[in-house]
Order: sequence, then structure tokens, then C-alpha cells
Amino acid sequence: MQIIGGPASQMLASRIARELNVNVSLCEFTKFPDGELYTRIVDDIAEEVTIIQSIVKDSDLINLLQLIDSCESSKRINVVIPYMGYSRQDKRFKHGEPISSRAIANTINADCVFTVNIHEKSTLDYFSCKAIDIDASSLIGDKIVSLDLEKPLLIAPDEGALELAKKVSEYIDVEFDYLEKTRISGDKVTIKTKKIDVTGRDIILIDDMISTGGTMAESIRILSEQRANDVYLMCIHPVLAKNAVLRLFNAGVKDIFATDSIESAQSSISLSPILSNYIL
Ligand code: R5P
Repeated sequence: MQIIGGPASQMLASRIARELNVNVSLCEFTKFPDGELYTRIVDDIAEEVTIIQSIVKDSDLINLLQLIDSCESSKRINVVIPYMGYSRQDKRFKHGEPISSRAIANTINADCVFTVNIHEKSTLDYFSCKAIDIDASSLIGDKIVSLDLEKPLLIAPDEGALELAKKVSEYIDVEFDYLEKTRISGDKVTIKTKKIDVTGRDIILIDDMISTGGTMAESIRILSEQRANDVYLMCIHPVLAKNAVLRLFNAGVKDIFATDSIESAQSSISLSPILSNYIL
């Protein structure tokens, strides 16, 4: 088994390789003078390879396609896409729009694809090979337990995050509830308060991803008005676009914890223990 890490998942690939006691292959990722991407796997290419590469930026997809093509001599190619960008465009919302997650899935030529808490499970059907979504909620649960919080309460900022909150709540035996969100525009949401008594409790807001931080910032504001104690944010995918981190700390968050599906300063929960089990 050879582990190959794309440029978006170098740290995670190294951690997985360490868990599996194998080396992560040396690759070159540079650019041609005209800006086109140059990718090369420097080491010998094995018969069975696992490529780990999140799609965060558009160029990450090109690097992934290049890595897959470089492994054409391999008998088996597994592809791990810990964060699959465009997965929120899983349907046609308006006439003339693409189903972007399908467009991306169609380009992946592999024997098996693994994703992590993908935004919409039906996206898996768009891959032409077997595709498995891995649930990392237990890692979030373990992190919450390690924080040793005061009367913790898990809150999903909207109904979409309810399933994840419920899973974590069952895993660590902590109560959960949710807020009701209405999206006004790309980065503006209003949230109707539910009847949750948060007074004096430490709150863990949980969602599959934090993008602009709009949903969470508004949730923090509402929970603070209701005299919650400390508010922590947990997510699988820390997209944290634009000034999201600043926005969240300005809103009063105590801390932000996320997995390394996207490698950022907030990615203190590694997916490597779970992913290495599947890859083996
Ligand atoms: C929505 O469908 C996702 O689960 C998140 O709630 C959303 O992406 C968060 O976006 P933002 O951080 O921009 O409010």
C-alpha cells in the first residue's frame, strides 16, 4: 500500500501513513510558467495506491486528477477526498445551473472513493466506482469530552446539522437541541430562538462545515443573549472562508475545533485514526 498526499492534504496523508507504518510518497507540486499545474510522483508507484486529497480550491481538483493519471500503471487506486468542495451544489436550484458535485464526481477515475461526512449522501451515487462516506462524529465527541465542560449542551445551528448533533450526543451522552435558521443571502442568516434553556451552560455548536461563519456568528449572538456560558464551535470541515475566524471570535466564541479534512489552524482533530482503518 502506497500513500500519496495531494497538496491540500499533506499533513493528513503523513499522519495516516504514520498510523499505517508506511512512508508517504514524495511528490512535486509546482507550476509551469503559464500558471498550469505541474504534478509528479517522485517515488516508484506501487500496484495499490491510496491518494489523499481534499478539494478545497479548484486547483486541488486538477492536482487530484493529475495524481490519479500518474498512477495509471497501478492495479488498484483508492481516492480519499476528506473534504469535497462543491458538495453543497448537489442539485439544480435554478434553471441552467449545473449539479456541480456530479460534475466533479464524474471526473474521478478510481476503484474506490472515500469521503468524510459529505454534505449530501446522494452525491456518492454520482461516482462511477464504489464510494463510501466515513463518519467522523466520534472524533468530535472525543474532543468534546476532553474539554471537560460545565453542563454541556450540544446545539445544531439548523435542522441540517441535527443528524450530526444527534450522533455526537448519543456517542457522548450529552443533551442536544437545534436552532431554526433562515438564509437571507449568501452570507446573511436569521435564526429564530428555540425554547432551550442555555443559561449558565457551556454550549457546543456543531455543523458539518463552517463556511463564511454567518450561521455560527448569529447562533453565538443568540445564545449569548440567552446567557449561555462559554460557546465552542465544532465542525468536520473548516472552510472558514474570507474573515470567518475573525468574525467568529468577534461574535464571542471561546474556541473553534475542526478536523484536518481541510488543513487550518483550527484543525486540531485528526481524521487519521478513522481513515487509516478504512484504507488498510
Ligand atoms: C449548510 O448547508 C451547511 O451545513 C452549513 O450550515 C453552512 O455551509 C454554513 O455556512 P456559513 O458558515 O457560510 O453560514
